[in-house]
Amino acid sequence: MASALRRPLIAGNWKMNLTLAQSVDLAKLVSGGFGSASGEVAVCVPFTAITVVGEILKGTGVRLGGQDCHWEASGAFTGEISAGQLRDAGCQMVIIGHSERRRLFGETDEHVNKKLGAALKCGLTPIVCVGETLEERETQKTWRVLETQIAGGLKGFAPSELAQAVVAYEPVWAIGTGKTASPAQAQEAHLFIRSQLKKVHGGSFAAGCRILYGGSVTADNVDSLMAQADVDGALVGGASLKKDFLRIMGFRAA
Ligand code: 13P
Repeated sequence: MASALRRPLIAGNWKMNLTLAQSVDLAKLVSGGFGSASGEVAVCVPFTAITVVGEILKGTGVRLGGQDCHWEASGAFTGEISAGQLRDAGCQMVIIGHSERRRLFGETDEHVNKKLGAALKCGLTPIVCVGETLEERETQKTWRVLETQIAGGLKGFAPSELAQAVVAYEPVWAIGTGKTASPAQAQEAHLFIRSQLKKVHGGSFAAGCRILYGGSVTADNVDSLMAQADVDGALVGGASLKKDFLRIMGFRAA
């Protein structure tokens, strides 16, 4: 996070966890700890918890996000939630193209691209996720995968339209496995992603775009990850459900 152009962002992804009562408790914990945060903080919560968590976060500075959205504004899409509905419910952000959506629910770069358009149109800050599987890494396909996901996911938008967009590098092999990318591996991938952003959308967009790291981020490894020049924040799964998230929010980048 060496660049002053990029305000660090620590975002929790609660995934499909917690009851409403537990969500309320966790939202209170996070908002109570916001005073010692080292940057911007957000929580991306299950759809059912958006309203209650939004009430607690109101006026606290902690931002609220959804974990997915549909690309259409409304209509006969049973089970889906639109970007406009997220906005209406109080969200400022949305995760798009998480690897769990790609892997378990068949999302493609084309879907990601359409969802990104919907999020931007509704004024939501999109967090677009990219990342390679273990097999892709072991067969030297990491750069090709990242290049394809960035190009396909972000295509067709002017840099001015993408001004708010955030990218998250989440190597699939590091998600929920306890195997974090080393700071050097994260930095290498983030630098590569920034070079791709530059290729597609120009130098000034690339220099200002925040790239978060996600995959087994903990209170113990956050400082060394955040010390990397191109790591501008973290997207945190498991550890965002615990008190440890407060320490992650208050990371110290050397
Ligand atoms: P973990 O932090 O549990 O590995 O999950 C990362 C993630 O998928 C965040 O979106």
